[in-house]
Amino acid sequence: MAATINERYEAARVACARAGQEHLLRFWSELDDARRHDLLSDIERIDFAPLPGLIDGFVRRRPPHAELGPLAPAPHISLADVRADTDEIRAARAAGEALLAQGRVAALVVAGGQGTRLGYDGPKGCLPVSPVARKPLFQLFAEQILATQRRAGRPLRWYVMTSPGNDAATRAFFAERAHFGLAPDQVVFFQQGVMPAFAPDGRILLDQPHRVALSPDGHGGTLLALAASGALVDMAARGIEYISYFQVDNPLVLCLDPLFLGLHAQRGSDISCKFVAKADDHERVGNIVLAGGKVHVIEYSDLPESLATARNPDGSRRFDAGSVAIHVLSRRFVERLTADRSRFALPWHRADKKVAYVDLASGRRVEPASPNAVKLESFIFDALPLAEMPPVLLEVDRAEEFSPVKNATGVDSLATAQRDMIRRAARWLERAGIRVPRDAAGEPVVPIEISPLRALRPGDLSASDADLRGLRFDAPVLLA
Ligand code: UD1
Repeated sequence: MAATINERYEAARVACARAGQEHLLRFWSELDDARRHDLLSDIERIDFAPLPGLIDGFVRRRPPHAELGPLAPAPHISLADVRADTDEIRAARAAGEALLAQGRVAALVVAGGQGTRLGYDGPKGCLPVSPVARKPLFQLFAEQILATQRRAGRPLRWYVMTSPGNDAATRAFFAERAHFGLAPDQVVFFQQGVMPAFAPDGRILLDQPHRVALSPDGHGGTLLALAASGALVDMAARGIEYISYFQVDNPLVLCLDPLFLGLHAQRGSDISCKFVAKADDHERVGNIVLAGGKVHVIEYSDLPESLATARNPDGSRRFDAGSVAIHVLSRRFVERLTADRSRFALPWHRADKKVAYVDLASGRRVEPASPNAVKLESFIFDALPLAEMPPVLLEVDRAEEFSPVKNATGVDSLATAQRDMIRRAARWLERAGIRVPRDAAGEPVVPIEISPLRALRPGDLSASDADLRGLRFDAPVLLA
């Protein structure tokens, strides 16, 4: 039988009191029933057990910088290796295609982030991005999965990680658009956990008298969320062994890349990474490095300046592997890490942020002008050093696979992502032997879009295809 509101209040009161967070219920007597329910739901989402240790170690004081010892570039498969199209590369691609045909792979997008930098009012995956048809990010991924499963000859599963703040809106968006042609039961939504925002003294902030200031616990939360939601069990029952992981913000991502999957499987890796050569010394990406025999990702903000600017004898950048946050994870690896859910945690990263809060004395909401709060997040790439088998580190061509939408304007914005989608489409057409008119700056004269349902790679286009033969570039071009 469901607990009554009084029973829930009592349980929340005890949990808060034990953790020194009684103030979360400060406004209880002033709340109506609906608001009481909201407040209890928020409190029930908090995992209180680890809080005292986290507050001591990360909030009241700054955690010491993780000392990894000497760093070196990590061994990898370069773009030149892939382009050489050796027997190993061809065999890996064929192995990946076989895994897809056997249904041993699922796609997973992490879409639980708040997307604050972009300033878009809604889940980021709903953002219309494609340059001609204005398809949202989720649709571009769905259509890749559809196109891949048509070739594989069997439905492929897609796990979509949301967070409490965007779960309902994300599900509604998929439902309204008929799951973009996928069967509804192929798309599995699961929610990640949350972490409260803390005042520097360790007290959890209230966002409103009836709402705790909660945020998603970082994409590192994927691992526990996969276990807690039952998704891992579901995968095992379906014979899914490999998880093709990507972020919601990159419209150029290959959601299910046979080469990457095949290399990962053939080498028996636990977790693998794609990377690009960095655009400059300080590009805001994670750096893939080797430390103590293990692969790590070090955020741009944590890489010492001397290493960011270090050069090889030939003048090339020494630490040049920029993470594009595209991984393959073996299901068994995730199972191993999360076998005891109460004991597993990836390292926490502290971020000092501006978080609006309710002043406990006056009950008024305060919008701080400078960072007033500590947020804690974990990152999926911190699972890399936990791998027993060496990861595959695969270099990819930025122009083909990476152009994230992170900012409202400027670098990594909608404008740059659309530009890069158009450039890629133009290149694919040219490779197929179609002449694409370009302006003085070398850009295609009209926007061009190729639907994933029409082509997943340049080889899917041929100059003799009926829809390419008649192409005129006097208006935006959409190959559907
Ligand atoms: C991230 C990586 C960076 C990488 C870059 C590539 C971190 C800390 N850094 O940067 O190493 O080079 O992408 O584009 O991740 N998400 C959740 N739940 C959360 C938080 C995030 O699902 O709690 C999802 C977001 O929806 C998004 C992705 O994770 O899909 C990236 O999150 P974001 O915080 O934007 O990472 P970046 O700082 O851009």
